[in-house]
Amino acid sequence: MNTGAVSVAELRDEARQRLPKAVFDYIDGGADDEHTVRANTSAYARIGLVPRVLRGGGTRSLTTRLPGAEIAFPLVLSPTAFQRLVHPDGEVATAQAAAKAGTVMVCSIAATTPIEDITATGADVWFQLDIQPDRAFTAHQVARAERAGCRALVVTVDTAVFGNRERDRRNGFTELPDGLRCENMVDADGVLRRVEFDADLTWSDLDRLRDRTGLPLVLKGITHPEDARLAVEHGAAAVLVSNHGGRQLDTVPATVDLLPAVVRAVDGRVPVLLDGGIRRGTDILKACALGATAVGIGRPVLWGLAAGGREGVELVLERLRAELERALALCGCAGPGQLTEDVIRW
Ligand code: FNR
Repeated sequence: MNTGAVSVAELRDEARQRLPKAVFDYIDGGADDEHTVRANTSAYARIGLVPRVLRGGGTRSLTTRLPGAEIAFPLVLSPTAFQRLVHPDGEVATAQAAAKAGTVMVCSIAATTPIEDITATGADVWFQLDIQPDRAFTAHQVARAERAGCRALVVTVDTAVFGNRERDRRNGFTELPDGLRCENMVDADGVLRRVEFDADLTWSDLDRLRDRTGLPLVLKGITHPEDARLAVEHGAAAVLVSNHGGRQLDTVPATVDLLPAVVRAVDGRVPVLLDGGIRRGTDILKACALGATAVGIGRPVLWGLAAGGREGVELVLERLRAELERALALCGCAGPGQLTEDVIRW
């Protein structure tokens, strides 16, 4: 791979140079005025770190236990649609990079690669789904994900309707190019379905899903502490604090600002994950210090993929891991599990 990028931000610059404008904008953009997109990243600049010194702890353990997987450091690959739009190797390259880094790849319901080809890489894969209006089709997808060896289901709950993505409308970005399709949206009769959203979903739909699968359920898109409490009561194995990277409801606060109240509501009963705006090792450290068990990244994976396929995604994961290790050492902390709010000033 021919990239001199030393940071995630520089991989974004490379992705911008390589991708057609409409594709770059589809990745980068969000809902309405994109206040939440910007808030997710700028929040981390507002949060200060006050390190502790002379505490030893040079041998660090970053291993983190999540439902259905033990990961090498507290970061997973959040689900993003259409990865073959960005690089011909798409989701397979991403899964290979996740496997090499020892972490989980979450496969989107709108993946452009069959789930079986993704799990065949040997990566720990979670399958993300939006519960479809046709519940029988959702049951079919769940059974397929189980058969393929997925370790958990990530149920996205912040998609009652589709967010207002004005960049995509301006660019006329509406259809996948010929040759690409949502490979996991094929029904039992071989018919390709469209991904749909269901604004009538309730907690009882989640209960039914929980009762029909042995896989742990991760609820993605929780922002309100009361919903976090309900998620635990309804049997979620983890909650993922997410505002969909600012792509659904604009002006939702930065996820890191929402995290502490969710952590209090969950009260240690299940792991709390967070995604949105993670671009540096210090961002991961701050989220963990505020109670996250692990974080997820969305856009950085796509930038790495665009810049250099599998190696580009590997670079993203290596950089973030190295930055996290350095930040932990400089904070005088032996591992993410030992972090507390003590190092945070805001
Ligand atoms: C997403 N996200 C997303 N989420 C989901 O549950 N299913 C999906 O198919 C997608 N697709 C998708 C496509 C693209 C291009 C982006 C940028 C995002 C949201 C994603 O999982 C995650 O919540 C955010 O991307 C996290 O924010 P950052 O890391 O991109 O800032």
